[in-house]
Amino acid sequence: MVDVLHGKDGVARAVQLLLEGECVALPTETVYGLAADASNDAAVAKIFSAKGRPNNHPLIVHIPSVEHLDIWATEVPAGARILASSCWPGPLTLLLKKSKQTSPIVTGGLDSVGLRVPSHPLFLEVLAAVNNGLAAPSANRYKALSPTSADQVVSGLDGRIAAVLDGGPCEFGLESTIVDFTTEVPRIVRAGPLSRQLLEERLGGTVEMPLEHDAIVPGNVKAHYQPRTQLRILSQGELTREALEIRESGFIIFSAEMRNKLAGIGVVSSAVYHLPADATGYAKALYASLHALDQLNLKTILLEKPPIDDDWSAVNDRLKRALGE
Ligand code: TXA
Ligand code: MG
Repeated sequence: MVDVLHGKDGVARAVQLLLEGECVALPTETVYGLAADASNDAAVAKIFSAKGRPNNHPLIVHIPSVEHLDIWATEVPAGARILASSCWPGPLTLLLKKSKQTSPIVTGGLDSVGLRVPSHPLFLEVLAAVNNGLAAPSANRYKALSPTSADQVVSGLDGRIAAVLDGGPCEFGLESTIVDFTTEVPRIVRAGPLSRQLLEERLGGTVEMPLEHDAIVPGNVKAHYQPRTQLRILSQGELTREALEIRESGFIIFSAEMRNKLAGIGVVSSAVYHLPADATGYAKALYASLHALDQLNLKTILLEKPPIDDDWSAVNDRLKRALGE
């Protein structure tokens, strides 16, 4: 059984377990992370086995503050420092050349390291107490959905980890934006809550965003965030037709038109999730609704196609991966 920890005592227990070399799931503002002492190779190895994640998939190191940057990274470009000071604590991960002390176990053998200061107050309390880096990937089994609540962590990792610190539902619900600073021009390698436009404004310079995220790094693979139930992304018309044909479907929709169409054809199902129509609200609810529908053993999940514009790029990126495209 996973110990579900709460409040001040929970933070103290989480810190104790981490110092003893155990893995503990912690809340971040993006998704829950499965943390271990980044300077303890044996502890980090437990993350890989609990998740069933291949050893060459690099982990993000979460640090207590920007002052810890140079402990884990070296040759840090000025632009990276600007983004670090303006976006941390927050949902931004920087890829930088790793320092000597950063273990290759954490970086999956790569010469670079992913760093971020998360903004969830409980995670920050834990970091301040350990005063060290915590390696933490999303707290899900390999290729499963990232959890956005403590319950989802328990349902995915029960029996495989010591404890989860309950920090409530995650503020963003999608993983951090990752910016690679090991190339000459910084480049977004994973779209996330912080948009390219915002990053360029903060940086006062160009940030590239490849349309297709090539799988240059193990772990940044196309088929990644996949629910067990077949997922289909459809226009309103297609979705209405499919809803008539397939009875055991779940639905993720966001528009009033779609809700009315479903009601019009008599779909009255507890498996209809009507998400907010703005990208931020939608992102926050997406994984939780996929996760909930995934528990119902339905034939399919029919999802109303979201808009294709910049605001929605992180959502569309995750949906593409959920489809395995
Ligand atoms: O919001 C987040 O980033 C969450 C929370 C827990 O912080 N973490 C997260 O970690 O999403 P994970 O391991 O599930 O995804 C991290 C991604 C992976 O695709 C990994 O390949 C990439 O970051 N990554 C990590 N370190 C890297 C490195 N040194 N070079 C290239 N990619 C890296
Ligand atoms: Mg992950």
